Amino acid sequence: MLIDLVAAARPNFMKIAPLWKAFATESWAEPRIIHTGQHYDHAMSQVFFDELGMPAPHVNLGIGSGSHGQQTGRTLEVYEQQLVRDRPDLVIVVGDVNATAAASLAAAKLGVKIAHLEAGLRSFDRTMPEEINRKITDAICDYLWTPSEDADANLANEGIDHARVERVGNIMIDTLTMLMPSIMQEKVLETVGLGERQYALVTLHRPGNVDSADSLASLCGILLRCSDMVPLVFPLHPRTRAKLQDFGLLASLENSASVHLMPPLPYRAFMRLVAGSLAVITDSGGVQEETSFLGIPCLTLRQNTERPITITLGTNQLVEPCQLPQKLENALTSGRRATRIPLWDGKTAARIVKFVRERLLTL
Ligand code: UD1
Repeated sequence: MLIDLVAAARPNFMKIAPLWKAFATESWAEPRIIHTGQHYDHAMSQVFFDELGMPAPHVNLGIGSGSHGQQTGRTLEVYEQQLVRDRPDLVIVVGDVNATAAASLAAAKLGVKIAHLEAGLRSFDRTMPEEINRKITDAICDYLWTPSEDADANLANEGIDHARVERVGNIMIDTLTMLMPSIMQEKVLETVGLGERQYALVTLHRPGNVDSADSLASLCGILLRCSDMVPLVFPLHPRTRAKLQDFGLLASLENSASVHLMPPLPYRAFMRLVAGSLAVITDSGGVQEETSFLGIPCLTLRQNTERPITITLGTNQLVEPCQLPQKLENALTSGRRATRIPLWDGKTAARIVKFVRERLLTL
């Protein structure tokens, strides 16, 4: 069974790594990584293939950066050609990036079976490009693999037949549990010059936070106030670095002794920083899950989340920028707490392989 695993951008690579490994050990399966090339810098792409033990992609579609229309359109066109040339039996798309929607559309039009891993998540905020991608993808995929009960409920509310839906759990936690011993060996804290639980970690890259000069300037001021309370470690996404530079804000962070700016980090070094932190300030989706799993307070600088279970059963809270200093102070006082979220157990890839073997192999 030829299985295309489609990956495009940094958060996708941690999701396909356990899938690739699990399918590669099955005699009946031939998994192939289709890299669309949305992320292409070494630090945003190749480094994850190296450390997550994945082979070079079967193909790289070379899509690169561009507007949403350009990225989505090019992926649709080029992946369609790939599908016609080298047709798989199943396409698996993950997450909610532009390629998730585009690759699904290409496969659906050619009648190739498609599964969406991380289906059913909804922020109910159509200003997020990812929300549009999620809805398009779930509307046209044959199999919807969800991480949690709320995702099943969202799909039911959209009138999607429950026969298409299978709750498989959270694939990111497979990668995290698999690599936890080697994550803890990482020496990144020494590089930063900070010890265990002596800092808060910051990640920001959402257009809603970083693309406008006003909102980014205000966030920088608030982060500088927070850094009076606790040192901040801040690995910069290329988009965020570029915007800080364009808006003349980079120097204010660089000149602060208690803000430690870093380049984009490999997976293990980044997770080592998460694991050693007092709290995490973020606008990422995956980081809300990883902190919840580890029991670390997570302050999400967004007005909504497509991952509400991280609030109800995890450690996440949505925070307005003006509330951040107070919320951070509270988080530093309250500290960590144990959490347990159903099916976030490191066995999601195994459940997916079982599903494909039992339900799809014979079709
Ligand atoms: C994309 C995803 C987002 C995900 C994020 C993780 C969509 C709609 N967005 O956003 O859901 O959370 O990835 O990073 O698919 N750039 C580089 N090097 C790279 C890649 C990008 O310098 O390897 C720069 C380019 O200037 C580019 C910008 O970053 O224009 C934004 O990249 P893009 O892929 O368009 O979106 P992300 O913000 O990364």
